[in-house]
Amino acid sequence: MTEIALTVQQTARPTGYPAPAHFRFAESPVPEPAPGTVLVENLYWSVDPYHREMMDGDFPLNSPLEGRTLGRVIESRDPALPEGEIVFHRHGWRTHAVVRPEEARRLPHYDGVPLSAYLSVLGGTGLTAYVGLTRIARLKEGDDVFVSAAAGGVGTATGRFARLLGAGRLVGSTGSAAKVAYLTERVGYDAAFDYHSGPVADLLAKAAPDGVDLFVDNVGGGQLAAAIGALREHGRVVRIGTIGQYNTPDAPPTVFDHSAVVEKSLRIEGFLVSDYRDLQEELYEFAVPHLIDGRLESDETIVDGFDRIVEAFLSMLRGGNTGKIIVRAV
Ligand SMILES: NC(=O)c1ccc[n+]([C@@H]2O[C@H](COP(=O)([O-])OP(=O)(O)OC[C@H]3O[C@@H](n4cnc5c(N)ncnc54)[C@H](OP(=O)(O)O)[C@@H]3O)[C@@H](O)[C@H]2O)c1
Repeated sequence: MTEIALTVQQTARPTGYPAPAHFRFAESPVPEPAPGTVLVENLYWSVDPYHREMMDGDFPLNSPLEGRTLGRVIESRDPALPEGEIVFHRHGWRTHAVVRPEEARRLPHYDGVPLSAYLSVLGGTGLTAYVGLTRIARLKEGDDVFVSAAAGGVGTATGRFARLLGAGRLVGSTGSAAKVAYLTERVGYDAAFDYHSGPVADLLAKAAPDGVDLFVDNVGGGQLAAAIGALREHGRVVRIGTIGQYNTPDAPPTVFDHSAVVEKSLRIEGFLVSDYRDLQEELYEFAVPHLIDGRLESDETIVDGFDRIVEAFLSMLRGGNTGKIIVRAV
């Protein structure tokens, strides 16, 4: 075991895109677990768009940050969590964490399912996609679906789950030609476009000439406005996130055709995955058999080394990832 623990701390509030100078790595001795706690050596870390929102106020400055992480119990002072157990917890952005058993969730083990999947397709990312499709959109067989930020973690999981759930035409938007190819050649999208390459309404009309039944929106802004135009009668918008606005606080509010919502009987509904934790087991029941038989893959960008966690986070905000971005201990 190394003698030194590292935590990442935020040192200043950014305006617009954050930079490495808004963070520092702080060294301390590896913490000692008190009775009733365990020491976890973290192995995989999730960095997420919501961390950017937390940087505006919810993350305290000069303190260890929080984030989803997987680790191994290396010292236990509570029989509920013995040494060697692999757990999920929320004391991320640090190499070592002292956690109480009730703050940690033991992970199931399925042969052939890699550990990183518990932060991607089987983790909060997959759960978000699953809730969006099954509970908010109430996807029906044959529904044509448009997904924004389709090549990211939630977007790839949404595409793959929608296909398994019997969706019709799948259209995705993303930020580069390479990601467009990834969506159609690897993830199973029928059509995809780079949202930089023209007015989104025109690109969407070309990719989905007969319209869509469902829009899974990770971005907001002009993509939301274009999708409202492309939705058919009784279409649904699942509002998952607004990454198009997190780094541009001065951007004008989104303008969309409100009358279309009435005339086409549309439903626009947002949700927070934290309100659907009770569906975690259902997600395993749905996704694990498909992962094992190869009908479902987990799209991930793995960044090796805790010392690269800030770099990984900043890269994700600018589209440097394909699938869920995950940092792995080396
Ligand atoms: N409601 C919930 O409970 C919940 C839970 C999880 C995530 N979310 C939200 O879901 C969305 C996706 O999250 P994720 O974890 O899967 O992240 P992600 O999609 O893996 O990564 C973020 C992606 O956003 C895209 N992006 C960045 N700036 C953009 C812009 N200005 N316009 C359009 N796209 C932009 C980039 O891809 P491109 O190359 O395509 O630009 C980047 O790869 C986020 O909005 C997040 O906040 C919500």
